[in-house]
Amino acid sequence: MSNLEQTLSIIKPDAVERNLSEEIKQEFKNKGFIILKEKKIKLEKDEAEKFYQVHQTKPFYNDLCSYLSSGPIIVMILEKENAVLENRKLMGATDPEKAEEGTIRKKFGISIDKNSVHGSDSQDNAKIEIDFFFKD
Ligand code: CDP
Ligand code: MG
Repeated sequence: MSNLEQTLSIIKPDAVERNLSEEIKQEFKNKGFIILKEKKIKLEKDEAEKFYQVHQTKPFYNDLCSYLSSGPIIVMILEKENAVLENRKLMGATDPEKAEEGTIRKKFGISIDKNSVHGSDSQDNAKIEIDFFFKD
């Protein structure tokens, strides 16, 4: 049965800064993702805090929010069959050192915090995150 989904993807500051955006977008396209919408923005710290609210009790929360708001990012709506899961697979594990060969984080990630991409982890969160950036 067909299950066309949308998910939110972010190319994080470490990757934008290293001019990897086009190469990373090509990774998505090669796997059959359609980029429905995209924009380059820079978040304020309080916006990053809101986006990463679910992590507010984690020890890395403050650094994570400082980092996400440290420079320009590219936010995208990706569409594909089973986009949420397929994007998580293509991204690889949170820690680039543990990510499988061929994944974006393995190829481009620097460290667990500077891991180049974000992707929604469920369909519910995908809807929330897409609204966060693209509700107008
Ligand atoms: O991004 P992902 O869903 O794979 O991981 P997460 O557990 O939802 O964590 C969100 C982000 O926090 C990660 O992508 C990392 O950038 C960062 N993080 C970190 O800096 N240190 C950790 N120990 C875990 C996550
Ligand atoms: Mg996550």
